[in-house]
Amino acid sequence: MIQKGLKGIVAAETLISHIDGEKGQLFYRGYEIKEIAKSYSFEEAAYFLWFGHFPNADQLGALKEELRCNRPLPENIKVIIDQLPLEMDLMSVIRTAISAEGGNGDYDWQPEVSQAIRLTALVPTIIAYRKSQVDGNVVVAPRNDLDHVENYLYMLNGNVPLAAHVEALETYMTLTLEHGMNASTFSARVTASTESDLVSAITSAVGTMKGPLHGGAPSGVIELLDEIAIVGEAEMVIREKVLRGEKLMGFGHRVYKTHDPRSVALKAKLIELIGEDEWLDLAMSVEDTAVRVLAELKPGRSLYTNVEFYAAAIMKAINMDVDLFTPTFTASRIVGWTAHVIEQSENNTIYRPQSKYIGTFN
Ligand SMILES: CC(C)(COP(=O)(O)OP(=O)(O)OC[C@H]1O[C@@H](n2cnc3c(N)ncnc32)[C@H](O)[C@@H]1OP(=O)(O)O)[C@@H](O)C(=O)NCCC(=O)NCCS
Repeated sequence: MIQKGLKGIVAAETLISHIDGEKGQLFYRGYEIKEIAKSYSFEEAAYFLWFGHFPNADQLGALKEELRCNRPLPENIKVIIDQLPLEMDLMSVIRTAISAEGGNGDYDWQPEVSQAIRLTALVPTIIAYRKSQVDGNVVVAPRNDLDHVENYLYMLNGNVPLAAHVEALETYMTLTLEHGMNASTFSARVTASTESDLVSAITSAVGTMKGPLHGGAPSGVIELLDEIAIVGEAEMVIREKVLRGEKLMGFGHRVYKTHDPRSVALKAKLIELIGEDEWLDLAMSVEDTAVRVLAELKPGRSLYTNVEFYAAAIMKAINMDVDLFTPTFTASRIVGWTAHVIEQSENNTIYRPQSKYIGTFN
């Protein structure tokens, strides 16, 4: 008996998060995500995932300081990025830069939180550095008086962002820090299980995140909504796509068989922050139509919006370019990856499933 895609197979025990796919709930270390996103900053939630408790004021201050100190890009990484063709997609640039970072410190087994903090601090700077080059803009250095998410937007745009934009992006990033044994986290844990280093594990994860079925969906959502806006008829476009066997980007989930709680929280935050908006209205009406058409054409599959659907709306609301969507997801998910790699290292068994040979014997 084979289980394609390891669907439903439990391959590890974890204290980091829990997903209840039937009830549509996600917990970080026992706390429901909607409460965390409402009450805690990116830094506090990351600290909680890495250390297992929320930080007091001193601990939070120390984490912010460590993140700040690790933001500037090392010269050798700049040189490597400079040599990559401008057409190379940003996820491949991040993967290459992270891999190069392996030469800059002691990343040998066993992984530590200080290494996780350094990689988490570097990713937004890598993204902003290359994005400035691609757009022909001046590279903006990180600013020490800004927190993690605010500084990311500052480096991308060259000015201090609106508080509402920081709040929207921070909600998104806090909601997407961690999500159990998804494909990229699994690949990070598989790499770590060979007692390879944290940089190698995160390089594997970034490569996995790049694929459209995992991290690449928000830009597909924008394409879907743009197509519907041009045609002016949601039902026809959706029906034809599903009948052709296409997947609607931003719908369906391997684990959630009801609403994705991150999608619900993002939608609520968007309504709170931007209220009346033509594009948001379009997104909400496409959601209603698609859920109805999918229930009719794919009965019993329980297909609803996933996090990517309203992530696309958040990105659009804060004027983030489409090529930054998956990299931004990466900038948050690196927290979950690193927490998992550390957990894997603390009670390690190498991953080694089997395959069933279906060829002939000669
Ligand atoms: C996320 C995803 C990969 C989960 O896949 P999965 O749990 O393995 O589900 P499957 O691909 O086996 O799909 C089960 C059925 O639902 C259908 N389905 C799943 N997602 C669908 C979608 N977005 N649009 C249309 N049909 C979909 C499949 O065609 C399949 O139908 P079938 O039984 O007639 O063959 C899948 O829903 C998907 O590709 N969604 C679009 C991409 C996306 O939004 N990714 C971001 C995830 S956070």
